[in-house]
Amino acid sequence: MADLRTTFAGIKSPNPFWLASAPPTDKAYNVVRAFKAGWGGVVWKTLGEDGPPVVNTASRYGSLDVGGVRMAGFNNIELITDRPLQVNLDEIKQVKRDWPDRALVVSLMVPCEEESWKRILKRVEETHADGVELNFGCPHGMSERGMGAAVGQVPEYVEMVTRWCKQNTRMPVLVKLTPNVTNILGSARAAKRGGADGVSLINTINSIIGVDLDLMAPTPVVGGKGTHGGYCGPAVKPIALHMISEIGRDPECAGMPISGIGGIATWRDAAEFHALGAGTVQVCTAAMHYGFKIIDDMVDGLSNWLDAKGHARLDALVGRALPNVTDWQHLDLNYKIVARIDQEACIKCGLCHIACEDTSHQAITVSKTNGERRFEVVDKECVGCNLCMHACPVTGCISMIEVATGRKPLTWLEHPNNPLRQAAE
Ligand SMILES: Cc1cc2nc3c(=O)[nH]c(=O)nc-3n(C[C@H](O)[C@H](O)[C@H](O)COP(=O)(O)O)c2cc1C
Ligand code: SF4
Ligand code: SF4
Repeated sequence: MADLRTTFAGIKSPNPFWLASAPPTDKAYNVVRAFKAGWGGVVWKTLGEDGPPVVNTASRYGSLDVGGVRMAGFNNIELITDRPLQVNLDEIKQVKRDWPDRALVVSLMVPCEEESWKRILKRVEETHADGVELNFGCPHGMSERGMGAAVGQVPEYVEMVTRWCKQNTRMPVLVKLTPNVTNILGSARAAKRGGADGVSLINTINSIIGVDLDLMAPTPVVGGKGTHGGYCGPAVKPIALHMISEIGRDPECAGMPISGIGGIATWRDAAEFHALGAGTVQVCTAAMHYGFKIIDDMVDGLSNWLDAKGHARLDALVGRALPNVTDWQHLDLNYKIVARIDQEACIKCGLCHIACEDTSHQAITVSKTNGERRFEVVDKECVGCNLCMHACPVTGCISMIEVATGRKPLTWLEHPNNPLRQAAE
């Protein structure tokens, strides 16, 4: 079995699978059950300043169901922990004492003043937690109070608060980034300049997940009204992967550990995050949907896959796909593929034909022999766009075949149609 142990920003865990700061990590009861199930670590649900705890609405979650798949996207208007600070700190101390081999990181969000951060860091240190994660990401409720995404969207604030925290604690400091920015590198680089030991991303995305057409209000509806919330779950994975790869291949962020978050539900999702540079991964929605037991398949799946690929350790996978992430202008414009239909597997539904005929390149013909329809690709019309392969309901029925052109690779930078190249000549 491949070795899944990780050391992330100096924090050790038996496997890279952590639960993200959210309801699954809200209290000792949950966290102990998660550790018993096999999770490698947790980021405790965000703690705030001492004082009267925050107050939550009753209705607080919304779901995007796609084609019968429940919770393909998930949204919440929940705030940080609504339990008293000291209760949380006592539980954290006890859990860390009982589970010394697991990673226990504490998520924090306090007002943007150095004294507030200093105060809470001191109290978290007393719990012997492994590190802190600064929640600069929450897009609703707290950002209106000058915290969460209100800090994370301004690189100067990210740098300043990170520096305060580094100066006021010996614990590793992770900075959790908000995706609600146009360029993630602004805040990632700021975290690095501030001395962050690592970044974690993504937090949730600003969203209205739906509108109740009877109540004429956004969901989740609270007494007839709704508000924007934080979007997460499988639907956000592509956004998270992109942001992680941007940080992973940025020379200014080089060497900064990344904890990948966003739509991870299976070992394969996790492997993709690792391949783009994530040292650990964090999970929220999938645990809220299916419970803590999903960790079994994640651990087995990842280590079996590493074994099959001949990797003894997880480290061999981290960042492995990054050299192949590039900008569009560096792609080979002479690379040619065409679609192939496996006639044995085809169920004659015609979706590929309609997709190509109506919206692509009219490259799939339909004919009838003995009353049976037959769909075929006309190679010379096919531009290899992949649309039919994705539209086909039978997995593996349409595959894309590389065609040898005998031409050398040609990028946009060298292409004769590129006006900038012409200008340079
Ligand atoms: C109900 C709910 C509450 C959350 N609360 C917090 C929080 O208190 N602090 C935080 O940093 N992130 C919070 N998050 C964001 C998650 O930690 C995570 O970044 C996000 O859900 C993306 O991961 P996922 O797609 O696996 O859910 C919350 C998410 C959900 C769904
Ligand atoms: S790959 Fe694109 S162009 Fe070719 S057959 Fe399929 S949909 Fe048509
Ligand atoms: S979409 Fe797939 S199954 Fe349907 S006709 Fe085309 S190749 Fe056959």
